[in-house]
Amino acid sequence: MRMLKRRSLLGGAVAGAGTVMIGRPAAARGDQSAARRTWWKEAVIYEVYPRSFKDSNNDGIGDLPGIIDKLSYIRDLGADTIWLAPIFASPNRDNGYDISDYKAIMPEFGTMSDFDRLMEKASSLGLRIILDLVVNHTSDQHPWFQKSRASKDGPYRDYYIWREPKGGLPPNNWPSPWGGSAWTFDAASDSSYLHLFSPYQPDLNWDNPAVRDEVFSIMKFWLDKGVAGFRMDAITMISKMPSFRDMTVEELKAPEYVYAAGPHLHAYLREMNDRVLSHYDVMTVGEAYGMHAQDIPLFTDSGRRELDMVFAFDIVHVDRQGWRKIAWPLSKLKDIYAAAGRPQSPDSWNTVFLDNHDQPRAVSRFGNDTAFFREASAKAIATMLLTQCGTPFIYQGEELGMTNLPFEGLEDFEDVQVPTAWETLVKRQGVDPEAFFESLKGLGRDNARSPMQWDASKNAGFTTADKPWYRVNPNHIQINARECLNNPDSVYYYFRDLIALRRKHPALVHGSYQDLDPDHSAVFFYCRESGKSRLFILINMSDRGFTYDSPHLAQASLLISNMAHRGGTRGVTWLAPWEARVYTA
Ligand code: GLC
Ligand code: CA
Repeated sequence: MRMLKRRSLLGGAVAGAGTVMIGRPAAARGDQSAARRTWWKEAVIYEVYPRSFKDSNNDGIGDLPGIIDKLSYIRDLGADTIWLAPIFASPNRDNGYDISDYKAIMPEFGTMSDFDRLMEKASSLGLRIILDLVVNHTSDQHPWFQKSRASKDGPYRDYYIWREPKGGLPPNNWPSPWGGSAWTFDAASDSSYLHLFSPYQPDLNWDNPAVRDEVFSIMKFWLDKGVAGFRMDAITMISKMPSFRDMTVEELKAPEYVYAAGPHLHAYLREMNDRVLSHYDVMTVGEAYGMHAQDIPLFTDSGRRELDMVFAFDIVHVDRQGWRKIAWPLSKLKDIYAAAGRPQSPDSWNTVFLDNHDQPRAVSRFGNDTAFFREASAKAIATMLLTQCGTPFIYQGEELGMTNLPFEGLEDFEDVQVPTAWETLVKRQGVDPEAFFESLKGLGRDNARSPMQWDASKNAGFTTADKPWYRVNPNHIQINARECLNNPDSVYYYFRDLIALRRKHPALVHGSYQDLDPDHSAVFFYCRESGKSRLFILINMSDRGFTYDSPHLAQASLLISNMAHRGGTRGVTWLAPWEARVYTA
């Protein structure tokens, strides 16, 4: 189907497309059952952050053989696709998101033959592997950048973005979304290079066709090894504003929207699709930083032949305003899911995620991670994750209800982002250091990056080395995989049951979405419907218990709940704090 050309429903006819299939009109309230079915719409994807997953050779760093060891753990959970965060050669300034050789495995993680074994074992278990494609920027240690820096008129100069400084100042006022200027001065050639992220991550110049050829060749290299697609890092930022003019005061408040508005972004994605992706049965999911939700179908409508899915940031930004962590009403979350459940085009597809390697732990953020509520709330939000519209992504440890870390000081953070943020906000802008630290504790990316908690032993069974690369959460004594696997009521088994439920009820994948009680401040109650199948999802998103009544439930029967069954499943219901139920009617 991917190869069929058809009329784009958003942007008029796709250039050169013969119309083979006419887009269907959007079905009522988004019933996707008539739309194109593909494996990745039905997939449940599990993200592995290799550095923190499982160490096999006891150097304190997770690695590919460690992942191989745990593939059946992931398969037993019910996931069918694994997204591996970067596994390529890298000086690790940003844990692999700074790549110095795209066709080599990071030595700390193993060898190419380990990767080949990983692919083989995964395939024998029925698991697909997708890789992280980090091509907005490279490492400053990549030979392309080394050569680019070394000679002003060599062929590699134009692989990156160099501009003359302006009277001792950077070429323009562009900031890095991480803080500080997006330019670093290079004395050797008396010019500055652009880096939207850290100075160790210079941005590639996608306007240079040679750069695009390189990227497409990297993609083919891994696709020919059998990977099932890519998660594309910072992909909305690859096309830069040609004038390189200063941003206005207004634009500076959210520069990521300027970075994501480059004029050739869609053309480059289409070229990538034509030249590479369309030749394989693979999936793509782009990180859509700096995108408004309404623009998402511009990437994902299948008629446009760009990407399959993107990660929008609306949900994981509900509790933040700039650097500040803020309180949020449930209505905000409901509005975002309602908008996502209302497809703007008939064949565009969503993702659902609460956790990943850049986010604090979901249970600490959307649930309540205190001992009394942790398990119930982790299950309640898992219910939401696996019954909303779109392909769900689970992040390692989420299935155990792993929590945020206890941070005591700035020195507890490892993330390359933190020192720059501190420097920019506290030192230069005068933000109160206590307030900054409080928000950082709640929002910091390191929360996600502590080692996976396999058991209660020293270092949580992640490594037998004395010191893992990053600190283990002391709560691994209570929260760990072994404990979960031994307890039939664990968060892990509830995830497994939800995934199985999702596979059994196509309405949870393809069905329409309707919020049945948008105004309730604690209850999230919605319906997924496809053909004759209707599922009701009822979640108490609060620490309070109360009775809740709905005529919809009169004829409904309970399929799953995160609480021991107390009878009385019909009609009036006592909802315990963080109780979640899925019914069929
Ligand atoms: C993405 C990655 C993040 C990384 C950044 C720069 O946001 O998810 O981990 O630091 O891009 O590559
Ligand atoms: Ca290791």
